[in-house]
Amino acid sequence: MHIRTATSLDRDDVRDVHLAAFDQGERDIVSKLATDLLSEETTPQTISLVAESQGDVVGHVAFSPVTIGTGENSQGYILAPLAVKPDHQKRRIGSKLIEIGTQQLSEMGVHILFVYGDPAYYSRFGFSADAAAGYTPPYTLQYPFGWLGIALKERSTETSPIKITCVTSLCDPELW
Ligand SMILES: CC(C)(COP(=O)(O)OP(=O)(O)OC[C@H]1O[C@@H](n2cnc3c(N)ncnc32)[C@H](O)[C@@H]1OP(=O)(O)O)[C@@H](O)C(=O)NCCC(=O)NCCS
Repeated sequence: MHIRTATSLDRDDVRDVHLAAFDQGERDIVSKLATDLLSEETTPQTISLVAESQGDVVGHVAFSPVTIGTGENSQGYILAPLAVKPDHQKRRIGSKLIEIGTQQLSEMGVHILFVYGDPAYYSRFGFSADAAAGYTPPYTLQYPFGWLGIALKERSTETSPIKITCVTSLCDPELW
């Protein structure tokens, strides 16, 4: 298994990963998000990684930038979406995608990485509700307990909650 940066040529494979991994209720909206993010041009860049096994794309993750408050003092990203094909799960592919992406973001000087997901899974990578508590997500969350963050670089702490804004592909209340 190896992990590489995804390109627009991976569009169908990326869609198929999410269609296979997510339940019926989520698969269409999440696979659309994954492919939309592949072609969305952002500053700084959106990062999409795929995991390949024997020439097949079996996992995918995307990291897109968020604006924090006025955006002057800190750079944030959000991890979404993440999926591994069911027949390749539990082989640390999801973990590797998160770890390699997080490492790239750290090297870019990103301060904080957010995720909206299952705390039982993401806590094993250091994500916590506490780290995200000072930041208000762009939309009202259906599952507020899933709003998590991990600090990648020191920054001065703010006293009041800071609103974050996301890239266009994530601007759909149904995703939150
Ligand atoms: C979540 C997902 C990406 C994990 O991928 P993976 O390659 O199987 O992950 P890893 O092999 O690195 O880690 C698997 C471990 O995470 C655990 N795990 C997976 N999903 C979990 C969850 N929702 N809550 C708690 N633990 C979870 C597994 O039980 C396994 O534990 P173990 O190492 O103790 O056996 C994959 O299960 C998936 O695609 N699920 C469907 C889509 C999804 O839910 N995406 C995340 C949206 S927030």
